[in-house]
Amino acid sequence: MRDYTQAAIEIAKEAGALQMDRLHKQKTISYKDQNKFNIVTEVDKACEKLICDYLKDKFPSHDILAEEGSGFDTKSDWLWIIDPIDGTVNYAHGYPLFSVSIGLLHKGKVVVGVVYEPNLDELFVGERGGGAVLNDKPIRVSKNKALDGSMIATGFAYNVNETRLNNIDHFNNFILKCHAVRRDGVASTDLCYIACGRFDGFWELFLKPWDIAAASVIVEEAGGKLSMFDGRPLDIFGNEIVANNGLIHEEMLQILKSSDD
Ligand code: IPD
Ligand code: CA
Ligand code: CA
Repeated sequence: MRDYTQAAIEIAKEAGALQMDRLHKQKTISYKDQNKFNIVTEVDKACEKLICDYLKDKFPSHDILAEEGSGFDTKSDWLWIIDPIDGTVNYAHGYPLFSVSIGLLHKGKVVVGVVYEPNLDELFVGERGGGAVLNDKPIRVSKNKALDGSMIATGFAYNVNETRLNNIDHFNNFILKCHAVRRDGVASTDLCYIACGRFDGFWELFLKPWDIAAASVIVEEAGGKLSMFDGRPLDIFGNEIVANNGLIHEEMLQILKSSDD
């Protein structure tokens, strides 16, 4: 596993360096669909190519699923899941929080997760059964036992203005019950911040596997809990996620149940 982890770290850092190099330069933005919220920059594409070319070269028999479409599927037992820039809207606006997210699945289970935030030079790594670290130091989730003392996070999907499941009802309910709710625009970072105890919880709808695969193993290895809104085990290909330190899980599920979304 170590070889896979090292490879993911190496290429995540390279992609991060490219992002920093282009951060304050003019970017070419294109729209992924009719909805003008869903954008991609040429830096997302360049980083994805960099990462995929590297992984293809190093592990030619492995499959790849990558947000901007460079993947392929040969039904290998090994699948890399890549978000070249998580937080593209932040990146495009020059807001300095974004990450490179690289996860590796073996037979459908996430076994390695690497999330790198180049602007803060923070590297989160999780290995199934091997713990979670931030810049090589072991991390653990927080010990907050109740929602009223918790700082949690969420996000809103690009289809926010197209569906009744727009997360606004959940947001309203949580904000009245928690110490604070944050919306930073980088799902992988939100999850890693649970792993290192900065956030106590997180929920979101309509995330994609590349947003959460890598960070999911980091949270679990740091002692956190992940599930669907009804408490079933998390399916990273599913439509929703709730994550936390394990101590506020039931309270979060109750709030999610009480909303109309
Ligand atoms: C987005 C971010 C954001 C979340 C969105 C995602 P992208 O990913 O993770 O936090 O709220 O739902 O799509 O598009 O920046 O890779
Ligand atoms: Ca993403
Ligand atoms: Ca992305």
